[in-house]
Amino acid sequence: MERSRFVLSITLLLLQYSSKGTGAAKTNITTDQSALLAMRSHITSDPHNISVNWSTSTSVCNWVGVTCGARHLRVVSLNLSYRGFTGTIPPHLGNLSFLVALSFNNNSFYGTLPHELSYLRRLKFISLGFNNFMGSIPSWFGSFPKLQRLVLYGNQFSGTVPSTIFNLSTLQDIDLGANKLSGPSSTSVAASAAGK
Ligand SMILES: *[C@@H]1O[C@H](CO)[C@@H](O)[C@H](O)[C@H]1NC(C)=O
Ligand SMILES: *[C@@H]1O[C@H](CO)[C@@H](O)[C@H](O)[C@H]1NC(C)=O
Ligand SMILES: *[C@@H]1O[C@H](CO)[C@@H](O)[C@H](O)[C@H]1NC(C)=O
Ligand SMILES: *[C@@H]1O[C@H](CO)[C@@H](O)[C@H](O)[C@H]1NC(C)=O
Ligand SMILES: *[C@@H]1O[C@H](CO)[C@@H](O)[C@H](O)[C@H]1NC(C)=O
Ligand SMILES: *[C@@H]1O[C@H](CO)[C@@H](O)[C@H](O)[C@H]1NC(C)=O
Ligand SMILES: *[C@@H]1O[C@H](CO)[C@@H](O)[C@H](O)[C@H]1NC(C)=O
Repeated sequence: MERSRFVLSITLLLLQYSSKGTGAAKTNITTDQSALLAMRSHITSDPHNISVNWSTSTSVCNWVGVTCGARHLRVVSLNLSYRGFTGTIPPHLGNLSFLVALSFNNNSFYGTLPHELSYLRRLKFISLGFNNFMGSIPSWFGSFPKLQRLVLYGNQFSGTVPSTIFNLSTLQDIDLGANKLSGPSSTSVAASAAGK
């Protein structure tokens, strides 16, 4: 019994290590640039001309809303909040493998969340409040190993809250209010997670 659990945890460690290894080998700042250019091309309305600033003549680290980490010189934060954008999230954002914070509050982004976002193993903060995102809240939200803050307030998410979210031991703050969620868990999940 003890032994099999030991073997299992070693296997999980190895799996974690190898997926980290291949991820790091395949991506670099050029990958981050392609991901952000894909993001730019998915913005269909930009009333304040913000995305004009996202020019390939300079490093993505100088782009408005983008912050790079000092150690790896990779994108660690993408903050497109309060910019009046309309658009969708491309799957390419799942290539921002060093991303820690994703903030899209108060825009008019819409559509469903691409499952490629689940590759972002370093994410601690996800804020998508006040947009028009729809579909169910993906169950892979429960698989971010470091997630501390999850704000989906004020969208069109429907269905029930996935039970995987109860497994997020790192979670400190969750707000799923003002959506179209059904089931008794939608309020209790917020209460129980907030009480942690
Ligand atoms: C990023 O990786 C690609 C493909 O592996 C490589 O061609 C490119 O030179 C790398 N770019 C940088 C800035 O390291
Ligand atoms: C954005 O750019 C367009 C076209 O260059 C221009 O007509 C418009 O006035 C600009 N808007 C702002 C808010 O700067
Ligand atoms: C984009 O904005 C940043 C911060 O305001 C500035 O440092 C940078 O030079 C701008 N880049 C371009 C291409 O306009
Ligand atoms: C994101 O950007 C907005 C607008 O520039 C700013 O008000 C907000 O404080 C930023 N949020 C974070 C977490 O940096
Ligand atoms: C990034 O993501 C997209 C879509 O998920 C994929 O097609 C692309 O090949 C990925 N890799 C790089 C290095 O851009
Ligand atoms: C964010 O959007 C909501 C809904 O449109 C609005 O009520 C709120 O005032 C906005 N907040 C800010 C700081 O713009
Ligand atoms: C939560 O984690 C436990 C232990 O890792 C696992 O057995 C269970 O299936 C998970 N539950 C959900 C809903 O993901």
